[in-house]
Amino acid sequence: MARQLVLGIETSCDETAAAVVIYENGRARVASNVVSSQIKDHAPYGGVVPEIAARKHVEKIDEVIKLTMQQAGIGFSDLSAVAATAGPGLIGGVLVGLLSAKAISLGAGLPLIAINHLEGHALSPKLTQDLDFPYLLLLVSGGHCQILKVEALGIYKRLGTTIDDALGEAFDKTAKLLGLGYPGGPLVENAARLGNPKFPLPRPMLNRDGCDFSFAGLKTAVARLAQSIVAEKGMLSQSDINDICASFQAATIDVLINRLEAAFAISGFDGQDRQLVVAGGVAANQAIRAKIETLCEQRGWRYFAPELKYCGDNGAMIALAGAMRLGEGIVSDFGIKARPRWPLDELSAPLKLKHGYGKKGAKV
Ligand code: KG4
Ligand code: ZN
Repeated sequence: MARQLVLGIETSCDETAAAVVIYENGRARVASNVVSSQIKDHAPYGGVVPEIAARKHVEKIDEVIKLTMQQAGIGFSDLSAVAATAGPGLIGGVLVGLLSAKAISLGAGLPLIAINHLEGHALSPKLTQDLDFPYLLLLVSGGHCQILKVEALGIYKRLGTTIDDALGEAFDKTAKLLGLGYPGGPLVENAARLGNPKFPLPRPMLNRDGCDFSFAGLKTAVARLAQSIVAEKGMLSQSDINDICASFQAATIDVLINRLEAAFAISGFDGQDRQLVVAGGVAANQAIRAKIETLCEQRGWRYFAPELKYCGDNGAMIALAGAMRLGEGIVSDFGIKARPRWPLDELSAPLKLKHGYGKKGAKV
């Protein structure tokens, strides 16, 4: 296969990111990877504010792309193609990245490749490891919590999904209500490391048919637990917060392990196909990674997770998806539109949820 040199642009949430990836004979090398985080812009609000995110992407995108090209030591004319996230995500941000890619494509006469952000996460371990299709994917991020069969490039079959909140969202909301700050995932993980999982919290969907998830009830139980401690003692001490975080994280791990065991059973994967990829921002959680790795060892599955810097949103996973698509001769029409929602398994049969959606409907 020819050597592909692809610029990837990612702006679907709160990171303005770009990378250049070289893809040759099924192997990737990241030539440059720049991520400009907006965390400090959103922290005062305890979550991502879409309008602020879009404005910050506009302010940063030129600089981030320029730096990415400089660090790779190349010019636009050296590229094989330009790829950008076209959805799902916050539409204002997605538009900024996609339009930037269109401008580069037009100006430099390069093919344009619109990428589904979730496909980027799904392929992310391939940035640094040898991993062949097919594999089972646990995709856990701020906006998504799904288990999919990744059969080949572009062929994804969803086995399970959350019926309400995403897992990263549950971490973020737990952190917010405990006053830990934003983004909550790493802060809850750090507090959990110092705590004792002594509080009994619910394990939603445990042992239910299929492999769907639900996290809204767990989040509410954490809020009630915190309120009851405050009612009793007048405040939450740091050790209370650590214990609540440890109890919350332990509950999420029990749910993840149970749902993965169910997915292993219904996946139909056997022999060499028994490969599990855990990707997305929550895959950066060391306790979650360790428990899933142990489960894989016990059940005879090979375990893969992206390097930590490729768990959260980044341009390298978008560039890789672009390079792989280019290798298959798949490029996008210039009229391609940004999409706030874009399920990865859109081409497969419509999903039939076994348990229906939560009260507010599925957000993910
Ligand atoms: O993939 P990502 O960067 O953005 C989305 O596509 O959503 O994921 C961000 C999410 C946030 O909810 C963040 O709190 C969570 O990933 N996260 C973590 C950890 N690091 C990031 N959750 C649990 N533990 C972590 N160490
Ligand atoms: Zn993401």
